Amino acid sequence: MENEFTKANSLLFTLLIITMPQLWSQEVSRDTTFIPRVGQDGKDVIWVPSPNELVAKMLDVADVNENDFLIDLGSGDGRTVIAAARLGARALGIEYNPEMVQLSRKKAEDAGLSGRAAFIQADLFEYDLSEATVITMFLLPEINLKLRPELLDLKPGTRIVSNTFTMGSWEPDFEVTTDSNWNSWYTALMWIVPAKVEGRWKLDDSELDIHQEFQMFFGTCIKGKEMQRITGGRITGYKLSFLIGDVSYNGLADNTDSMSGRCSLNGKQVEWHATRIKD
Ligand SMILES: C[S@@+](CC[C@H](N)C(=O)[O-])C[C@H]1O[C@@H](n2cnc3c(N)ncnc32)[C@H](O)[C@@H]1O
Repeated sequence: MENEFTKANSLLFTLLIITMPQLWSQEVSRDTTFIPRVGQDGKDVIWVPSPNELVAKMLDVADVNENDFLIDLGSGDGRTVIAAARLGARALGIEYNPEMVQLSRKKAEDAGLSGRAAFIQADLFEYDLSEATVITMFLLPEINLKLRPELLDLKPGTRIVSNTFTMGSWEPDFEVTTDSNWNSWYTALMWIVPAKVEGRWKLDDSELDIHQEFQMFFGTCIKGKEMQRITGGRITGYKLSFLIGDVSYNGLADNTDSMSGRCSLNGKQVEWHATRIKD
């Protein structure tokens, strides 16, 4: 595992060397004694700041607003947290390096945003993320994968936005890029935590057997001796849609034992309701 991290960190470092001149010019901390150094050691990832243009894009794709509580994992110099607070969100940065935490707090205070932008010195793997409505990160693919089980267990609808790095076979729901791409960091990937629908369900006198893969699902619907395929299943937060045969279903899943909505049968909108079959 350590070798994997070392490999990934050296990839980040190589990309950094290429983009160094531009990144240096983005540094901001002129009014504190601590001046962060691009490429400085972090616990699991070195510090490389996201370009401000990409930060704006990441917050835009997640539609961050005053109803949100955003957590930035590995918050560096605090730029994402401060930008989210400017949009009216409550935002928290988790950063291992205490000097970066101090610097971020000072920047938030100077911007008059310390009421909404907070920073704590902590290991991102040990912090409870359950209250977040938006998670942002610029880490490494291996770290994203390590975090993935915890992220998938967050409230359905939570938006997770990553600078560039993927989440293994969990495909992003959205991918956007900045207008300028002078360095390697111009892509924002966003996932929306899906409700859980894996398992067996009773729908009228039919039994559904659903297999879920992240935000996609498929399966079978058995009624007496008749079997139809469930296809095209997709979940965005609590919202879901799927086909049984050629009948289209839409609705909401409550993330536990029930889901319901409407389907179109013979040109009519009909309500449906399914309950989980517990073994
Ligand atoms: C690539 S930088 C991204 C900084 C910031 N999020 C941004 O986009 O500009 C990664 C940051 O994560 C921090 N970090 C690395 N491992 C960490 C850990 N286990 N817990 C908290 N912070 C960590 C590093 O110190 C560094 O500031």
